[in-house]
This record gives sequence, structure tokens and C-alpha cells, in this order.
Amino acid sequence: MDPSNKVLTELLPRSEGPVRLLAILDRGLVEARPELPAQFELWAEANPSRVRLMGDVITVAGGEQSKQDFSVFQQSARAINDRGICRKSFVLVAGGGAVLDAVGYAAASAHRGVRLIRLPSTTLAQADAGVGVKNGINAFGKKNFLGVFSPPWAVINDTNLLTSLPDRHWRSGLSESVKVALLKDPEFFDHLCDVSTLLRGRDLDSMEQVVQKTAMLHMDHIIDGGDAFELEVARPLDFGHWSAHKLEQMTGFELAHGEAVAIGLTLDLAYGAMMGILPESILRRTRRCLLDMGFSLSHEALQDHESLLEGLREFREHLGGRLTITLVSDVGSPIDVHDIDLSVMRRAIEAIQQAGINESSRAG
Ligand SMILES: NC(=O)c1ccc[n+]([C@@H]2O[C@H](COP(=O)([O-])OP(=O)(O)OC[C@H]3O[C@@H](n4cnc5c(N)ncnc54)[C@H](O)[C@@H]3O)[C@@H](O)[C@H]2O)c1
Ligand SMILES: [Zn+2]
Repeated sequence: MDPSNKVLTELLPRSEGPVRLLAILDRGLVEARPELPAQFELWAEANPSRVRLMGDVITVAGGEQSKQDFSVFQQSARAINDRGICRKSFVLVAGGGAVLDAVGYAAASAHRGVRLIRLPSTTLAQADAGVGVKNGINAFGKKNFLGVFSPPWAVINDTNLLTSLPDRHWRSGLSESVKVALLKDPEFFDHLCDVSTLLRGRDLDSMEQVVQKTAMLHMDHIIDGGDAFELEVARPLDFGHWSAHKLEQMTGFELAHGEAVAIGLTLDLAYGAMMGILPESILRRTRRCLLDMGFSLSHEALQDHESLLEGLREFREHLGGRLTITLVSDVGSPIDVHDIDLSVMRRAIEAIQQAGINESSRAG
């Protein structure tokens, strides 16, 4: 928002005169950085030939709460209407993945789609949620039940925004890095294992590199994978997510998305190792890496096996058609599995729960 920084202004179309722009910010971000709304206003005032801010900057509820009902969607849609935002105007949203999802859904729906610029402000949003094409909210007790695919006009990852994150949200995006490295990039996986403790110690340079690499791997998958709108049954980027989404819901979102993904990844790796699909050593290395990053790999919700396994059914329903779970047979070698042996999966759940208990008693 430094008026001399042209990154954002240069993204606005020159030919259309000053564009109308509505700015919507995540409340958690604004609480950590109270100067931000005024900085937006100063930036707009400094660039009158390029942008016209349409009214005050709006602040909406942050965190998963923003996706739990229609209130943020409605607040955003109403502001788009009241402030005369048309299909040639812009909505700029800054925040965590949840706020980006909810505001993005409103922007993609109003007038059947107004232009959206995202400024992701968590590690998870910069590395994953903010660079994709999915927008939506939770409904009927299910994650992301309502939503649309809609690519943003632009995404700006500003590393400095990450410095105000509390530790758990600083860490949260790293499980998506481990996920995408396991799927696609053995060298990156080694790198993550090497820098895990630096990352835990909040080394900003290491985080910037990891976020950038993770964002590129996600984007490359969406652009080059041939299935940006997820028409195929396989959803490799959802590795570890069938249980993660269910755990988020079972814990009333006490577990953050990235924290649940860390557990979900170890569960599917443990299942793969028990089924003889994957060498046990990869499970051990991944666990070590995630623990060194500061993740906890167990949760009492794992005791309720049957509710958790319901996540498999919900995942199949969300995908449509045949159940397809992506596992890995080695780092960088994803495989699709269509049948899950539930008795083995129950043993895998017990095993990761027990390993978590052992780990916390060792740490204690
Ligand atoms: N659309 C997609 O493709 C996609 C992909 C992955 C995840 N997601 C979704 O993203 C959500 C998780 O996003 P998240 O991990 O960013 O969590 P989040 O959006 O819940 O944000 C975490 C917390 O950090 C606060 N916050 C945001 N920026 C801050 C900053 N710079 N300083 C201080 N506090 C800040 C927020 O207010 C919130 O309380 C989940 O709903 C998940 O389903 C979407
Ligand atoms: Zn995810």
C-alpha cells in the first residue's frame, strides 16, 4: 500500500480510466494491522488516474466463521450493489483463505462475476487458497458445499503481511507445502525437511521461498494439469483432505485447515504403509518434518473412527461418481486408489493417534 509501490496499480487496466474499486478486509488482519484501511485510502488518493475507491474500506469477520453462513457473502454482495460495482469494476479482498473464499464467492456471483483481486495474508492463503480458482462457503454441515470456480483477475502475495500472524497460522500453510512436495517434487520435500526448524523459528526468507514454491506448484497443477474445473474424478491436490475436512467439521473448526491437513496426510501415509503401497520410511520422514515445523499430529477427535470414516463417503459425494483417493507410492509418485479397506484405515487411525500420544508424552 506504499503509494510509491506500483505493483497493484499496474495490474489495473489503463484504457478504462480510473476503475471503481471496493476494498474488503479480513477483521483478524485489520486487528493485527490497524493502519491498513487508512493505507488503502492513501494509496487510492495517490493514484487518482487509475483508481476510485468506492466508499470506506469494509471489514468483515475473519477466520472460518466467515464461511459458516451467508453473512460475509451477503455483506459483500450488498456492498457490490450499494456502491455501484459493475463487471468492469474491481473487488479487492485481503485476508486469510476463509475470507478470500467467502468474498470471492460473492464477487463471482454478483452480476455473474465482477473482477476480483486477492491479497492473501496467511501462509496458507498465499501458498494455496489465494492462488486457485475455487470460491465458496460451508453449508449443511459440509465444507465448501456452496461455491463456484472462478479465476481471479490477479493475486498479490506480499510477504510482509505474514509477519503479524500468530504462530499457528504462520505454521498452518506448511502442511500444504508438504502435501504438494510429496505429490510432485522430491527435491522440494528434502528442502522442507532441511528447513523445518528454521520455519518453526519464523525465518521470513525461508518462509517466502517455501510459500512461493508451493504457490507455483499449485498454480502449475491448475494451469497445466488439464483439469482446472475438476471434472475428472481424481483430485490430487486433495491428498490428505478427506479426513482433514471431516476433522475440521468434527472439531467445530477448532482445528485450522492446515492443522487438519497435517493430520490427514499422516493418516493416509500410515494407511499406505500398512497396505504395502508406500515405504514406512517416507511416513517416518514426513512425520518428523511436520513435528519439527511444530504441528501436532494427533487429536482426540480421532477417537471417533466412525464419524471420521463418514468423511470418505462425503468426499466421494463431493467429487461425484467413484471414490478416488490420491495416495503416494514414493515422494513424487501419486497413485489413485478407488477402494479403501476400512479395517486397515481404522488401524491407521489408531496408529497415528497412539504415535501422537507417545510424541506428546516424550515432549512433556
Ligand atoms: N479456495 C481454495 O482453493 C482453498 C484451498 C485451501 C484452503 N482453502 C480454505 O482456506 C481456509 C483456511 O485459510 P487460512 O488458513 O488462511 O485461515 P483463516 O482464513 O481462517 O485465517 C486464520 C486467522 O488469521 C487471521 N489473519 C489473516 N491474516 C492475518 C495477518 N496477516 N495477521 C494476523 N492475523 C491474520 C484471520 O482473521 C483468521 O483469524 C479454509 O476455509 C480452507 O477450506 C481454500
Ligand atoms: Zn487444503
